[in-house]
Parts: sequence; C-alpha cells; structure tokens
Amino acid sequence: MPADIFLTVEKAAKWVAAEIASVIKEKQKLGKKCVLGLATGATPLSVYSELIRLHQEEALSFQNVITFNLDEYYPMLKSSAQSYNHYMNDVLFHHIDIPKNQIHVPDGEVSKITITGYCKEYENRIDSCGGLDLQILGIGRTGHIGFNEPGSQLDSKTRLIMLDSLTRRDAAKDFNGLNNVPKAAITMGVGTIFKAKRVILMAWGEGKAAIVKKALEESQCDAVPASYLQRHADVKFVLDVPAASELA
Ligand code: F6R
Repeated sequence: MPADIFLTVEKAAKWVAAEIASVIKEKQKLGKKCVLGLATGATPLSVYSELIRLHQEEALSFQNVITFNLDEYYPMLKSSAQSYNHYMNDVLFHHIDIPKNQIHVPDGEVSKITITGYCKEYENRIDSCGGLDLQILGIGRTGHIGFNEPGSQLDSKTRLIMLDSLTRRDAAKDFNGLNNVPKAAITMGVGTIFKAKRVILMAWGEGKAAIVKKALEESQCDAVPASYLQRHADVKFVLDVPAASELA
C-alpha cells in the first residue's frame, strides 16, 4: 500500500486538503456533485482548517459537495458538545457554503427499534448519490477505521457496533471520564468504505506508529480492520514522521 511521509502535520494536511479541493473542482467542471466521506476526531482537524482557508481565501465552493460522515456515538444527542454532528458543524460545515441538505452525519438520536432500517437507509443514500468519490480516514489504536473495531468483516455495512475498551479509554478525555463514554456507535462498515473510489488514511504522532505498521506491513486480518485497505485499488496512507517511525 502506498504511504507518503510528510515532515509536518501541517504539510500533510495541506496536501490532503488540496486533493479534496481538486476532486471537488473536477466534478464542478463536469457539472456533477462530488461525494465525500468524512472523518472526525483529532486527525482531520488541520485538513478542515485548510479547507476553510481555501473557501475563504481562494473561493473554493462546496455548493456541489455531498458529505457522508463515517460515524456517530450511540446514543448521542445532536446538540451534545461531544457529538460528531456538533463537531462537524463547529470545525467545518458552519464555515463553508455547503447546502445543509447535502450533509449527512449518522443520527445518534434514532430509536433502538428503527436503527437497523436507519442504517440501511444511510447505506442506500450513499449509493443513490453515486457512491463516495473520496473517503478520508483516521485510524484508531485498535486498528479501527470508522468505528469498525477488531472483528469487523470486509463486507460489513453501516450498523450499530459496540466500542472496544481501548477506543473508549482513548475517548475518555473528551467525555470527562470513561464512565461517560458511550458504549456503542453507528458506523459505516468496512464494505461501505471499500466502495469509495478513492481512500486517504491519515495518521499523526508516535502513538499511531505501531498500528500503522500493522495495517501496512502485516497480513490482512479482521484483528486490524485497517489492514483490509491493502486490498483497495486506490488507497494512500498519509503520515507524519513519528507515525511512520516503525515502518520497515
Ligand atoms: C472518526 C473515526 C475514527 C477516528 C480514529 C482516530 O470519525 O472514524 O476512526 O478516525 O479513532 O481518532 P483520532 O483522530 O482522534 O486519533
């Protein structure tokens, strides 16, 4: 799997944002919508800042962009400061010209009884928009992409999943303690991510070095869901030097 290693997170984020901008512009030229798969967490923050700068200073328009976020904690109120709905508005959507009805973030308020149908509909909605042109990903220390924790299958679809205990511990700082971290999440499946025409996975910092090595260099297995990406036809890992420090 190809990996590009950048000297700083800022340089890496600028490269990723420029790739996103060029897909958006290509589609604009063709008069078509651009369908983006988006991630949350700490990793994509610098990419979103750069996209906002491109919008404000270089007139990049998001009018033709449709977005689908990977995941949301469950249960989770949209208005909660920890929700990914709130995060996306805060760090991107409120600062660009994307039409509201073209934004999709899984709904952590959906009732338990309707959740299976809701997940199916989320999956169908991606397909009916023509599929994801570009999916951006972070990676969890469990090897998750989206919230596809170890054990997730290659053909998995959007669904409710129980979070791994390491993922919950890593989230504890955002929730003022482990006890407040939701035990579940709605996530696109590995299979959903796989249908994207192009995938960029980003990882920064020493804390990701061990799992990046496993995903890139060890054989594919469901114990490290990100390792499945080795089978994708158009995937790139974008790393900073510390995240790449354990690679052969
Ligand atoms: C978030 C997501 C997760 C994160 C991963 C890394 O939407 O899907 O897979 O990308 O947990 O999180 P950070 O970036 O906070 O290290």
